[in-house]
Amino acid sequence: MLPKINFTETQAYQYLTDHFIEVSNQHLRSLFAEDSERFNKFSLQFNDILLDYSKNRISDKTMALLTQLAKECNLKEAIDAMFAAEPINETEGRAVLHIALRNQGNERIVVDGVDVMPDVKAVLDKMEMFCNSVISGEWKGYSGKAITDIVNIGIGGSDLGPVMVYESLKAYRNHLSLHFVSNVDGTHIAETLKKVNPETTLFLIASKTFTTQETMANAHSARAWFLNNGGAQEGVAKHFAALSTNAKAVSEFGIDTKNMFGFWDWVGGRYSLWSAIGTSIALGIGFDNFKALLKGAHEMDKHFRKAEFEQNMPVILALLGIWYNNFFEAESHAILPYDQYMHRFAAYFQQGDMESNGKNVDRNGEAVNYQTGPVIWGEPGTNGQHAFYQLIHQGTKLIPCDFIAPAQSHNKIGSHHTLLLSNFFAQTEALMNGKTYEEVVAELKTSGKSEAEIEKLAPFKVFEGNRPTNSILVKKITPETLGALIAMYEHKIFVQGIIWNIFSFDQWGVELGKQLANKILPELESDTKIDSHDASTNGLINQYKSWRRD
Ligand code: F6P
Repeated sequence: MLPKINFTETQAYQYLTDHFIEVSNQHLRSLFAEDSERFNKFSLQFNDILLDYSKNRISDKTMALLTQLAKECNLKEAIDAMFAAEPINETEGRAVLHIALRNQGNERIVVDGVDVMPDVKAVLDKMEMFCNSVISGEWKGYSGKAITDIVNIGIGGSDLGPVMVYESLKAYRNHLSLHFVSNVDGTHIAETLKKVNPETTLFLIASKTFTTQETMANAHSARAWFLNNGGAQEGVAKHFAALSTNAKAVSEFGIDTKNMFGFWDWVGGRYSLWSAIGTSIALGIGFDNFKALLKGAHEMDKHFRKAEFEQNMPVILALLGIWYNNFFEAESHAILPYDQYMHRFAAYFQQGDMESNGKNVDRNGEAVNYQTGPVIWGEPGTNGQHAFYQLIHQGTKLIPCDFIAPAQSHNKIGSHHTLLLSNFFAQTEALMNGKTYEEVVAELKTSGKSEAEIEKLAPFKVFEGNRPTNSILVKKITPETLGALIAMYEHKIFVQGIIWNIFSFDQWGVELGKQLANKILPELESDTKIDSHDASTNGLINQYKSWRRD
């Protein structure tokens, strides 16, 4: 069982409240000037990942108090409970074991008296055989041709993880072309089907529950297209596979369970890329690379489990997030990878973080009286610099940012990577230092502006600075390093959920919309005027009905 402690009632929280007043008046510039050891003190290396968190509005005392907060919230016990397979997802009565999917040791992980590791291993072996046979061309379509295209049909965790990892590791891709269909908007499947040939396409229907409306609609349309374009019923077995926990629904859909890759209810949808849901990844980059991804995540799991909080990357990131969220009242957090391949990384963690920690009831079932999960957003640099960075630099909101960059590029073209990295370093420095009024005046004088022009322009050119950032510099984005990075963020989310005293592994909030959509669907199918809702919803539905036909 997880602890159920209101973190605002701890001693550390009271100390942090007083300490915040001191720190909020200090500028990062002076913190650096006063302490030449600041980088050494507030940075940490783990394998090929360097986390520099020195450009945060913290002192030794802040970190000591934040660590004390984690201890008073029994974080260690909570970590042990997750790794011990306790049913910490209490509202669904389940263990939370994505760590088992990447467990490379000999350790048993026991759920309800049964060691789950042999089953995990068996599915991985089945995936490996399947992927090798598709990649080698041994697996043939109904007309005897090898597979050239994979279409993954899934949504949320059954889409975002595979897309993000495949895109991030595209440098490792093989000859197969991967496509991802998630939106129930028919445009998504229609445009994808235009690009593929039924004789050489393999559809992966990725759905933990195998009941998700969007996925099932897309899966039915894909099958209808396949059957209408030369693929007979017998061909379905060669062209459709399922990634799911629901064998009954898979076989009702018409997929032979021989072509099903299973997983378990203790794998949350948004933590499932490590499971059979990762089959598209393994097909796209090869099984050895998929295994390296799991290995990297496992290394981070070990670090998270064993390292002291002061030296623990996920714990440090989580505590810094709490510092800004609950003391500085920051409302969002930006994730900014300086790596084009990682262009879906922030989108992936929008689900990872916001579906996990977007909760307003604590583990005692009481409404919280403090802020929980922030809004997560971001885009790759340098594109973001020319779009929204203005607000981060000079807007009225404090937006803590994670800057992520690889030292080595997969594409060594001229000086591109040096240019990219010069921006990466410049941005965090600029956000920290800003530019004072005096500096602006001096700069304008040098550029030959008159006194009057200087007076007029200077206020607009001042940057306050003091904007906090983490820099996450990695050697190269390899499968192993990416696995570790993803696991690092997953554990950060876990730690924050523990301290906020919320349940991070359910997602009841998504259900209401789903239920209402199911209620509205039959109303849209009829031609009668609707009056069963509020005036706005009735008005919109009736206008839609009058416009929907040409
Ligand atoms: O959006 C809610 C959700 O339940 C996610 O948590 C999940 O990743 C997604 O739907 C897809 O669910 P499934 O894999 O069961 O189709």
